[in-house]
Amino acid sequence: MTDPATAAGGVSAGTVFNLVVVPGDGIGPEVIAAGRRVLEGAGRIFGFGFEWREVLIGGVAIDAYGAPMRDSDMAVCRDADAIFFGAIGDPRFNDPKATVRPEQALLGLRRGLELYANLRPVSVQPVLRASSPVRESLLEGVDMMIVRELTGGLYFGKPSEQRQGPAGREVVDTLAYTEGEIRRVVELAFGLARGRRRKLTSVDKANVLSSSRLWRTIVDEVAPEYPEVEVEHRLVDSCAMMLVQRPAAFDVIVTENLFGDILSDEASVLAGSLGMLPSASIGARRTAYGLHGLYEPIHGSAPDIAGRDVANPLATILSGALMLRWSLGRPDAAEAIERAVAAVLADGHRTPDLLATTGDATGLKPVGTQAMGDAVLAALVASASAGAAGRPTAGAAR
Ligand code: NAI
Ligand code: MG
Repeated sequence: MTDPATAAGGVSAGTVFNLVVVPGDGIGPEVIAAGRRVLEGAGRIFGFGFEWREVLIGGVAIDAYGAPMRDSDMAVCRDADAIFFGAIGDPRFNDPKATVRPEQALLGLRRGLELYANLRPVSVQPVLRASSPVRESLLEGVDMMIVRELTGGLYFGKPSEQRQGPAGREVVDTLAYTEGEIRRVVELAFGLARGRRRKLTSVDKANVLSSSRLWRTIVDEVAPEYPEVEVEHRLVDSCAMMLVQRPAAFDVIVTENLFGDILSDEASVLAGSLGMLPSASIGARRTAYGLHGLYEPIHGSAPDIAGRDVANPLATILSGALMLRWSLGRPDAAEAIERAVAAVLADGHRTPDLLATTGDATGLKPVGTQAMGDAVLAALVASASAGAAGRPTAGAAR
């Protein structure tokens, strides 16, 4: 597949993007508020705008409508250029016997919009290396893209239920894939690898699972179409070890839904906090400007810290950058936001999650959610005015 950043249609000045915004539950509304301000700021600088349509999904929708997502809102999401998503989930609905749960909406949305690939770029900001729980020397050069299959596998297979068997309660979950479902995500991952360091690690459990054996076969069938990409197969348990032992060895990782969920959370530790990692969920559908997609931080609704202005909004802000790159055809604005994030971190701004693992906080600036968002916005504006004045933009972003 072609790089969406270059394949996107022309975006003329004054374009107004039609976006759905889903604040959701817990810290969702807080991180989304910060992310929206940064996107609006990027629009003012780069000459485009947004029409936001706010949709209630998750626990807030159960409260308002009795269901985690209305069908009409699914249609609104489908019609938008992209979806900017906070997080959903609320401990009030944690009862395992509950039939209505906020998370059902997210699975329904992914499936309904056929967002079959979840892309999770993992890199470590140089200034955060020292505060990572992983030894600093191992983090040099970490730059990977985890591609998680998102609409099949263990999270969607039927049956998935508890039932009464001859020996008492029994449960079953099903890991099912069609070859087409595997092939499309594998091809997408090969395409990404070709545009990066040309190495693809396919992760499975082929020594035990039939689903993994078909997965492996299909990777080998697709490989000849991408002769420039070096392919390795790795078992998921070994991959979990290597992600901490030699994280810089990975380029693109492609894997099944559950394995990808777990491995990408593990990889987030490298980056210092769950609050640092963005994600893009995309499918095959194109819009006027790029691929239709949903953009969200990889973390959840973090009810333990909600409502206190302490959540790290950078994962959400960086998700906004991914949205500009993949769905809206504005890689220039995406890069400017990513540079602004690097600049505020280099400048010492830290939300509490980033301070927790820092031994020596001398010279650092503790900030809350909204102040972190404002700092990114200020860095973006500063870099743009320095650029307009003819000075080098990258230098001014620092
Ligand atoms: P979580 O990601 O919400 O939180 C895990 C830990 O990381 C917590 O200690 C939390 O305070 C911290 N954390 C998360 N994001 C942070 C941020 N931006 N800044 C600082 N600290 C942050 O995962 P958890 O607690 O397992 O799940 C909470 C709820 O979120 C559940 O209902 C779960 O189902 C839901 N969830 C939703 C997701 C989504 O909307 N895509 C993804 C993952 C979980
Ligand atoms: Mg997860």
